[in-house]
Amino acid sequence: MEWTRKDLLGLENLSKEELELVLTTADSFKEVSTREIKKVPALRGKTVVNLFYEPSTRTRVSFEVAAKRLSADVINIAAETSSVKKGETLIDTGRNIQSLKADIIVIRHGCSGAAAVLAKNVGICVVNAGDGWHEHPTQALLDIFTLKEKFGRIKGLRVAIVGDIAHSRVARSNIWGLIKLGAKVTVCAPPLLVPAGIEKMGVCVTGDIDDALCAADAVNVLRMQFERDQHNAFPEQLEYFKKFGITRERLEKAKKRIIVMHPGPINRGIEISSEIADCPQSVILEQVTNGIAVRMAVLFLVSRACERRKSA
Ligand code: CP
Repeated sequence: MEWTRKDLLGLENLSKEELELVLTTADSFKEVSTREIKKVPALRGKTVVNLFYEPSTRTRVSFEVAAKRLSADVINIAAETSSVKKGETLIDTGRNIQSLKADIIVIRHGCSGAAAVLAKNVGICVVNAGDGWHEHPTQALLDIFTLKEKFGRIKGLRVAIVGDIAHSRVARSNIWGLIKLGAKVTVCAPPLLVPAGIEKMGVCVTGDIDDALCAADAVNVLRMQFERDQHNAFPEQLEYFKKFGITRERLEKAKKRIIVMHPGPINRGIEISSEIADCPQSVILEQVTNGIAVRMAVLFLVSRACERRKSA
């Protein structure tokens, strides 16, 4: 199949075949990072702009590394130190970046839908690096890539997503992607942190952490997003850890081969114990490494689709 989208805005609207194409393309790019000269010329002459309205370590650096491995030029814009502070709108900022002859904008924004608004208003490629509570597609793709690497398949895998589901764009993108690829997903959180109607996405819901872990092949642990918790749904951090924290005692009751994932940043002692974050079952840093190959694939596919549109 051929990738025809100029943008990657989320996983909700991607087909199973499109998801598989990103994963197989990422697989072929993974080897590049093992070479002495970690570069291929796929995006030579292209310019990628990382436009970040929210803080980031992993995603921003990962996109920069991915673009550079593809031989693109990379420019980083942090909203805090840009003309956004002088009142420039998102659309005006995007149009100016397009006028500066950039080819791809990678955007992180605090508002759900910001990436889609930008994509509608510029002719160049837009990649969503996380928009509000909506989606974080490349995080989910790298999570799914890591699962596939570990288990050789996604179909039939049982994945527990534990934590602040309500505020989590990572959870939403993971659910869209995993369900389409045939995994069975259970979400586990305190009732106030489970969005109403989430079952309609095809997941099971439980408030019992042992129940969530008992049959799981993988647990994806989410950060408690206290900064987004306007309703103070879980005021006591220690209380949360006691009821939902991923600990040695809890993992001992799960399958022996269960793997532990986390999108980062980790809050040690709040959603996961330090011991588990660093244990052999933890693939957290492998996820970060896989993010490079996945983002190389995404940048490559959207750029090629854009080129095809231009020459059509
Ligand atoms: N996982 C993730 O999005 O991390 P950053 O916020 O550091 O990019």
